[in-house]
Amino acid sequence: MTISFDNRVAIVTGAGGGLGKQHALELGRRGAKVVVNDLGGNLDGSGGSASAAEIVAQEIVDNGGTAVANGASVTDLDAVQAMIDETMSKWGRIDILVNNAGILRDKTFAKLEVANWHAVLDVHLNGSMNCTKLAWPIMTEQNYGRIVMTTSTSGLFGNFGQSNYGAAKLGLVGFMNTLRFEGAKYNIHTNSIAPIAATRMTLDLPGFEDSEEKLAPELVTPAVVFLCSENAPNGRVIQAAGGRYYSADVRENTGVDLGTGATVEDIEANIDTILDMSTNIGIIEKHQIS
Ligand SMILES: NC(=O)c1ccc[n+]([C@@H]2O[C@H](COP(=O)([O-])OP(=O)(O)OC[C@H]3O[C@@H](n4cnc5c(N)ncnc54)[C@H](O)[C@@H]3O)[C@@H](O)[C@H]2O)c1
Repeated sequence: MTISFDNRVAIVTGAGGGLGKQHALELGRRGAKVVVNDLGGNLDGSGGSASAAEIVAQEIVDNGGTAVANGASVTDLDAVQAMIDETMSKWGRIDILVNNAGILRDKTFAKLEVANWHAVLDVHLNGSMNCTKLAWPIMTEQNYGRIVMTTSTSGLFGNFGQSNYGAAKLGLVGFMNTLRFEGAKYNIHTNSIAPIAATRMTLDLPGFEDSEEKLAPELVTPAVVFLCSENAPNGRVIQAAGGRYYSADVRENTGVDLGTGATVEDIEANIDTILDMSTNIGIIEKHQIS
């Protein structure tokens, strides 16, 4: 059966281009009323223009959908509050929040300026927190919400030159891991997407040459839109790259019980067993609550 978002209201941050644009267009095509948020800045977060969001909102309307543009920076709590207030006064509910806005300030850690650590965490981690924090009471009141965090393989597995970005991106998974427990009784499901797509964020990276079609951002969107739907799981990380969809999670192994007298030498003697992930236990199954 076709998955419809009729009567659902969605906010997609950073939806003026790249992945967010595709998520917003697809939600709009499927009947959601969409707030297309984007400050229209450069890849490093500098600059800004309302037109990026306006163009996408207009495209949704031209396709027969319903959308408004919003130029708030997700880092500005007052501006996010105004976006939430405008959405509520216009449409009366917020069912879906896709935290997608992001910037890059890549440098090896040795060369990274502290300001660029904070700038990246501020957009990805604090920006997602700002939007989620202000949408949360509305979702709990409605007894319904679907939240998507945008994480990255750079956070899940690490990537050279992306200590700030990787920390922010895995921080979002930690954030999700708590929200999945706290939201469950309110039917708020929080999940994460780890995309790989040819956008302005990746086009200069090795391996992304001539990948515009193969790694089209549209190929990430079906997973994101599913995570926005009623049948979304809760607390999962889906990766999406060029039409392949797969999961990542945090695992622990059985390890070894050394009793209460364990010494540093005992740890050394047992280090292979302690680190042996072939005995892994799926944490998701162990802690699954919905
Ligand atoms: N492209 C990939 O392969 C890839 C991989 C992993 C994760 N991601 C993540 O996916 C998301 C989308 O990235 P993309 O590849 O589409 O890049 P993109 O640069 O095209 O999109 C990011 C959008 O966020 C907007 N934005 C930046 N700061 C903002 C702010 N403070 N407030 C509101 N909007 C803001 C930008 O204007 C831009 O339109 C990001 O979170 C990114 O980290 C992308």
